[in-house]
Amino acid sequence: MQNTDLKKEFIEKIKSKKELSGLSDSVVKDSLEEYLQKNRISIYEKSEKEKKLIVKEVRSRLRLLAGRFQKSKKSKKSLLSSGDIDKLLKTHSSTSERLEFYPRLKKLLSEMNVKSILDIGCGLNPIALASKNIIYYASDINEGDLSIISEYFKKNNLEGSTFVMDIRKIPRSLPKTDVCLMLKLLDVIDPKHNLSENILKSIPSKKIIVSFSTKKLSGRKMNFPKRFWFEKLLARLEYEFEVLESDNEIFYLITKKLGIAYKQF
Ligand SMILES: C[S@@+](CC[C@H](N)C(=O)[O-])C[C@H]1O[C@@H](n2cnc3c(N)ncnc32)[C@H](O)[C@@H]1O
Repeated sequence: MQNTDLKKEFIEKIKSKKELSGLSDSVVKDSLEEYLQKNRISIYEKSEKEKKLIVKEVRSRLRLLAGRFQKSKKSKKSLLSSGDIDKLLKTHSSTSERLEFYPRLKKLLSEMNVKSILDIGCGLNPIALASKNIIYYASDINEGDLSIISEYFKKNNLEGSTFVMDIRKIPRSLPKTDVCLMLKLLDVIDPKHNLSENILKSIPSKKIIVSFSTKKLSGRKMNFPKRFWFEKLLARLEYEFEVLESDNEIFYLITKKLGIAYKQF
């Protein structure tokens, strides 16, 4: 069997679990290749037992990135068709935990006079935040969630588009919007804190809202919810910020300063 066919077979197998089924093939392929490379494994001539182990290891990496946020087995498509938006938002752990705080967040965006949003690692967040006077760019590695968002935009005549993007690859050209959202994303994709600086720099929006969960795994509130590593990074980049807290989340409202060349005058 050809290398690409064999990889396809692995990708299909990895995605056969419901919580991973929505992931983009390219992200699954990258994870598979990264695992094989790191462990110096070839996918050829593997026994069934060895194949199972590869699939299991790659799945567990992908669960950490995305699968663990899928909370419910209910069909998102049917919840969308029946208009049960609260139940739909409850199928993703992040939107579910933020349900009561959305009115405050919407008010904040309206006070900031936001007319366009880029939402990175969006989950189902756009369904809670999109409105008629906002152009919404929604991106994630989960194509399944993105297709639900697309359908929601269409159904409600909202101006918006969705695209698959792995932000760890630091894309060169992102849509320039009034605000960029990265809610509960950095803890997931940057546990070693070595990507966030380049991600922040790559965002063309002047305003960025970054949030982190303030709940421990036990469900109790963290004693020190602030992310000092992140605050230090913002100080080093000379980005101004304010902090807003809900019961279970801390939001950094960031303003990027104008470029150094401008500052010298
Ligand atoms: C904790 S959830 C937050 C979802 C949403 N931002 C919210 O707060 O409601 C993390 C999201 O990041 C997405 N994600 C994980 N790795 C990613 C990556 N490398 N690039 C872009 N999105 C990613 C997941 O699919 C998931 O939807």
